[in-house]
Amino acid sequence: MPSHTFTVNGRSVTVDAPDDLPLLWVLRDMLGVHGPKYGCGVDVCKACTSHLDGADIRPCVVPVSACAGKTVTTIEGLADGDELHPVQEAWLEQDVSQCGFCQPGQIMAAVALLGRTSAPTDEDIDAIANICRCGTYFRIREAIRSAAARM
Ligand code: FES
Ligand code: FES
Repeated sequence: MPSHTFTVNGRSVTVDAPDDLPLLWVLRDMLGVHGPKYGCGVDVCKACTSHLDGADIRPCVVPVSACAGKTVTTIEGLADGDELHPVQEAWLEQDVSQCGFCQPGQIMAAVALLGRTSAPTDEDIDAIANICRCGTYFRIREAIRSAAARM
C-alpha cells in the first residue's frame, strides 16, 4: 500500500492508502477530520471544500497522492487557537448558519475568494456556487462583505 505524507491543519500526517483514494475519505475516515462534508462526491455540491496549499479544492475529487508534501487546511484549521478567522467572526455576526451542513465548505470557499480578491463583487460571491439547501445565500453575501471590510 503506498504511503503519503502531508500536513493537515498544522500537523504532519502519514497515511497508507491507494493513490486514487479521494482525500475526503482520508480526512474523514482515517484522520477523524469531519469538517469537510460529503454531499455528492463529484465536485458539484462543494460541501467538502477545503484548501490545498492555500487554494480551494474539493477533496471528494482530489486523490490523496496529489497531496504528498503539501498542506491541507480544513475548517478545523482556520482559527488561530482561540482566535477565530475574520470570516468565521463575520459568519457569527450575520448568524449565517441554519442546519450548518454546508457551512464549513461555504466558509472555506469564502476565505479562498477573499485571498484572491479583497473586494469581491456580488458576481464573485455568486461564482462560489457552494450549494445550501437551507437557502442562506443572502446572509453568506452579507458575511463575505463584512469579512472583506475587516480584513
Ligand atoms: S462532496 Fe460534493 S463537491 Fe465534494
Ligand atoms: S445551512 Fe443547511 S445546507 Fe446550508
